[in-house]
Amino acid sequence: MLTDALPRVRLGFFPTPLAEMPRLSRALGGPRLFVKRDDQTGLATGGNKTRKLEFTLGEALRQGADTLVTLGAVQSNHARQTAAAAAATGLRCVLVLRGHPPAQATGNLLLDHLLGARVVFSGEETREQVAQRVMAEERAAGRKPFLVPVGASDEHGAPGYVAAMEELDAQLREHKLQVDRIVVASSSFGTQAGMCIGAKRLGLATQVVGIAIDSSADELRREVAALAARTERRMGLDPSLSPADVVGHDGYLGGGYAVLGEPEKEAILLAARTEGILLDPVYTGRAMAGLVDLVRRREFGAGENVLFWHTGGAAALYAYAAQLAG
Ligand SMILES: Cc1ncc(COP(=O)(O)O)c(C=O)c1O
Repeated sequence: MLTDALPRVRLGFFPTPLAEMPRLSRALGGPRLFVKRDDQTGLATGGNKTRKLEFTLGEALRQGADTLVTLGAVQSNHARQTAAAAAATGLRCVLVLRGHPPAQATGNLLLDHLLGARVVFSGEETREQVAQRVMAEERAAGRKPFLVPVGASDEHGAPGYVAAMEELDAQLREHKLQVDRIVVASSSFGTQAGMCIGAKRLGLATQVVGIAIDSSADELRREVAALAARTERRMGLDPSLSPADVVGHDGYLGGGYAVLGEPEKEAILLAARTEGILLDPVYTGRAMAGLVDLVRRREFGAGENVLFWHTGGAAALYAYAAQLAG
């Protein structure tokens, strides 16, 4: 295993299911569609951060940390999974969330509270400024805080998706299947960086197609390659990817980060009503909208197998109830 030498804490239920989506495929008149259910990782409603946090917490515990500090949006899936990971390993957790507290704590924010995290809103300051202050306060109180970056997307977290590709590879061999493309939401880039390393190192003939959530395709390619290089170095390997090896689409940015538009809403309803699968309003709704558009534009060959990597997030649906209902 490529990641065997790295410290790791077991947090999730793996392997996550690999399933076919025949009714969605039929509804779109497209190629065979599959889904990898990382919305079922098991950590307080699951999601892609569970895989990264297994390695991030491995490193945090190796350094003797007793407190996790991280940052995110109000409806951050990453923050909620970090709070759950801290609870499950007996660590304290402080979440620095952007802006001001909403009138009602719902969705992920409600779960953050239930999971026992201390929630600090950054108000008019940047989250990074507030996080640094929280780190200093924690140290002054005699604790050992560990700062988990946005999305756990650094060389400590990204190996989670290298291991995920090994898991997928084993499932594909078992089912005698090959997938030509993997379509995945890409925002802080750790998921795609890990997948690209895994695909390359395992010699898979699979293209990892990142759907940019809140960046240009150029930034996505640059950042995925840069993070992949840092991650490979940490794994004791020579960097093997350049921006030209990374595939990203930025045609689905819609109204901006966390703005639910018609394409996301259509994708959420389509997945729910053809396959009984819940997507989220910010990431997987947008990534599925990208997949739907790419299928409709015949970007995938009729004989291809296309895998949608479900990265979780459905807990945020409740915060969008007014826009999704009816
Ligand atoms: C549900 C969901 N999908 C996808 C992503 C994107 O993953 P990454 O930040 O590793 O690019 C995130 C978090 O950013 C997420 O919460």
